[in-house]
Amino acid sequence: MTARTSSASFEGAEARWIDVQVQIAGGLPAFNIVGLADKAVAESRERVRAAFAAIGLALPSQRVIVNLAPADRPKEGAHYDLPVAIGLMVAIGVLPPEAGQEYLAMGELGLDGSIAPSPGALPAAMLASERECGFICAEASGPEAAWAGGDLPILAPRSLIQLVNHFKGNQVLARPAPGDLVDGPGVKDLRDVRGQETAKRALEVAMAGGHNLLMVGPPGSGKSMLASRAPGLLPPLTAEELLQVSMIQSVAGMLDRGELSRTRPFRSPHHSASMAAMVGGGSRIRPGEASLAHHGVLFLDELPEFHPQVLDSLREPLETGEIAIVRANSRVCFPARFQLIAAMNPCRCGWGGENGQACARGPKCAQSYQARVSGPMIDRIDLQIDVPPVTPADLALPRPAEGTAECAARVAQARETQMARGSLNAHLGGERLDRVCAPDAPGAALLAQAAEAMGLTARSYHRILRTARTIADLDGADGVRRIHIAEALSARRAKPAGQAISRPAARTSAGF
Ligand SMILES: Nc1ncnc2c1ncn2[C@@H]1O[C@H](COP(=O)(O)OP(=O)(O)OP(=O)(O)O)[C@@H](O)[C@H]1O
Ligand SMILES: [Mg+2]
Repeated sequence: MTARTSSASFEGAEARWIDVQVQIAGGLPAFNIVGLADKAVAESRERVRAAFAAIGLALPSQRVIVNLAPADRPKEGAHYDLPVAIGLMVAIGVLPPEAGQEYLAMGELGLDGSIAPSPGALPAAMLASERECGFICAEASGPEAAWAGGDLPILAPRSLIQLVNHFKGNQVLARPAPGDLVDGPGVKDLRDVRGQETAKRALEVAMAGGHNLLMVGPPGSGKSMLASRAPGLLPPLTAEELLQVSMIQSVAGMLDRGELSRTRPFRSPHHSASMAAMVGGGSRIRPGEASLAHHGVLFLDELPEFHPQVLDSLREPLETGEIAIVRANSRVCFPARFQLIAAMNPCRCGWGGENGQACARGPKCAQSYQARVSGPMIDRIDLQIDVPPVTPADLALPRPAEGTAECAARVAQARETQMARGSLNAHLGGERLDRVCAPDAPGAALLAQAAEAMGLTARSYHRILRTARTIADLDGADGVRRIHIAEALSARRAKPAGQAISRPAARTSAGF
């Protein structure tokens, strides 16, 4: 006979339906799993066999074939243990057929018959809810799965024996409650940063419009300090964003106790990060740091220290907001609409360009160090600012009156204005960019003049328009005026690549 149950495979942050068919047929005793299964799935046989023995069941001494359909889609992970075990128990009559047919199941079996959680419970439960069937998972995954909807029947047993008892009516399992909705770790206050008004203003503009920001300055000037204050300036995730972010975190196995965080993600990978760690991938495809920063901030401290190839792998997602990982037999897409904040020293010794702190190797030091970041990468950064050293006089100043709360309120206001128009300024494109960001005549003249003088690329030109729109939104202005264009231009260096980061000869008076 053939028993049927179902499970899910994962493509990016989404779950796909998998039919699990279990057939017990005559022939020499054997237990085979087919359907493009990886090593972890193949090992499932041993775990299922041991778990059955632990609860006093024996595998039939016949030929057992498990087919995971569609057979041409790769199956990865240990979460097929539970559906395979359920299918087998249905086939040998320990569980009723509806235990297989009416539920989507996922979970890893222990040798003692316990059920361990597996990543991806939230998208899998959403898929079950879409298909109007129930969901069976490990007890620890229950609170996460419960977020998929109030009317989704969920069984979250601790062990196979609990599941059998539930269907026998001996010990009915209660539906788990969703985990808590929490706020992220406490925010650090912008008040702690003395002086650096230009950098604070740039951070505010970047956070308000979703723009990318690069801070260049000598050691100890407060770049990392400023970046770590960015999460406090961002408004909480909207319901839709929360769901998208949580789905990615679920697939990455990061949702502890089913707790979802309203706070926007802030990811700061170390500069030794590999390409797979940054954009996702690996032998079992997992979301990378760029996807984990979706709807939040990706902070790359000490930018030139990152491997150049790793940095360049971020070029596509910075434009498109998603990452496509293509393999010979699969194509997986992860969302990655993050905001980049980067910090770096102007040269290896850190003091290039600072008067009185002359860099020992002169301009060569700065040039070779800055050239480690490619021109196209720099071109994607809307705001590129210098963060000068903090003077002892700055440090002796009293704490500034304005801190994170005041700045976050202005950012929230500007974001509301943008969302009323449909999207954040950083994501404007095409006809909407032309319409929403069109500057007044003096502004247009200034931009044309600057584009000529600075040799701006088309991308830089549009990024300046978007930044100017954000500055106008922070100002509460309806249109983009000359002063807004001037401030946006002042945060953009004249030339791309390594030379782009050298100090500009003169600055406009308006901003930064
Ligand atoms: N503007 C500032 N106001 C108050 N303290 C500051 C400021 N700038 C730096 N500091 C102090 O210096 C320390 C180092 O700052 P931070 O790590 O942000 O420097 P950085 O610019 O990132 O340096 P590096 O280039 O070496 O990474 C901070 O922990 C803080 O104690
Ligand atoms: Mg630093």
